[in-house]
Amino acid sequence: MTWRAACFARAVVVACSLPAVAGAQTAPIQLPTPDRTGGRPLMQVLQDRRSQREFRREPLPMPMLSNLLWAAFGINRSDGRRTAPSASNRQEIDIYVAMPGGLYLYDARAHRLQPIVPGDLRAATGTQAFAGDAAIDLVYVADFGKISGASADDRLLYAGADAGVIAENVYLFCASERLATVVRASVDRTALARRIGLRTDQRIILAQSVGYPASR
Ligand SMILES: Cc1cc2nc3c(=O)[nH]c(=O)nc-3n(C[C@H](O)[C@H](O)[C@H](O)COP(=O)(O)O)c2cc1C
Repeated sequence: MTWRAACFARAVVVACSLPAVAGAQTAPIQLPTPDRTGGRPLMQVLQDRRSQREFRREPLPMPMLSNLLWAAFGINRSDGRRTAPSASNRQEIDIYVAMPGGLYLYDARAHRLQPIVPGDLRAATGTQAFAGDAAIDLVYVADFGKISGASADDRLLYAGADAGVIAENVYLFCASERLATVVRASVDRTALARRIGLRTDQRIILAQSVGYPASR
């Protein structure tokens, strides 16, 4: 039985009181309800938005991860639409989250992390060494099955744009929370897709490292 199958068979939902996201988990992680009232003023956040590539080796608290993923591409309306726009509302970008305890898929509807691959894949999400230092690495994967009506060119265009606006949401959240982040195209897509076990109609678009800045 695979690790994923074992997780689902156990159907254990980790309590949302988990203190941080550092430890190994073998079950879905139910994220706490995101706090939609926080954040610094937008113009100050835009002033502070930047890429940072040095991370402290410190996990993110679970409420922080919950808020981050909701800001990135959570559901913000009763009709299922999201915090980031997507071409024709196809919502074809999935966010995989690499943490020390494993690689998870963000399920926005349930606001939950589904375990996909055990073990620490953070370093494998990038070709730059700092990827392995970040608290988490997000991997933006396009599900081309959701945009099958578009031409091959348009599929790539839409996926790039849709991943880009999610990445900017993450940048703004990080600037607001004084976290460090950098979006990355430098990814060994073939190797990482194999590690994740992606289907042939799924394509890694970008990755993004997030964590506490090395100097604070
Ligand atoms: C599509 C895209 C791909 C990028 N790829 C990488 C990357 O692979 N590695 C990296 O260190 N930075 C990467 N960056 C970050 C840029 O280098 C950074 O945004 C740029 O230098 C401007 O700096 P700033 O974000 O602080 O304004 C990427 C940015 C974008 C938008």
